[in-house]
Amino acid sequence: MSTLSEIPWESLRAQARQATSKSYAPYSNVTVGAAGLTSDGRSVEGANVENASYGLTLCAECSLVSDLVRQGGGRLLAVSIVAGDGQPIAPCGRCRQLLFEHGGNELLVDAGERTPARRLGELLPGAFGPDELGTRKNS
Ligand code: THU
Repeated sequence: MSTLSEIPWESLRAQARQATSKSYAPYSNVTVGAAGLTSDGRSVEGANVENASYGLTLCAECSLVSDLVRQGGGRLLAVSIVAGDGQPIAPCGRCRQLLFEHGGNELLVDAGERTPARRLGELLPGAFGPDELGTRKNS
């Protein structure tokens, strides 16, 4: 488990801010960037990608998880997700689930300069995850 102080929050947040410039958000005009750190020291990032069929929008976290998998996978230790104003934005419900798959309860989620990061387990208590599948199959 990583501790809050071990994470280079400033650079992670800066990377997330930079990633907002890659967003495609012509409908909401809310640009979102996400940056993550993996347990083996890699960095991953993403930005939101909207669609004329509004419901098909991909959040920045979807894009980050795609980047992670495209790089060969691994565990996420910490993520920073920011909007175009540079401040952290709460991950939506679907994205909490997406992040849980790759970081679990211990994943640290940036809450800004003045607030301690939160664990994903606090943001998505009692989550359904891959372990559940293994034990709940009929056969
Ligand atoms: N958005 C994200 O990228 N991540 C979230 O967790 C919350 C919402 C995006 C989706 C949409 O493009 C815009 O923010 C407004 O909802």
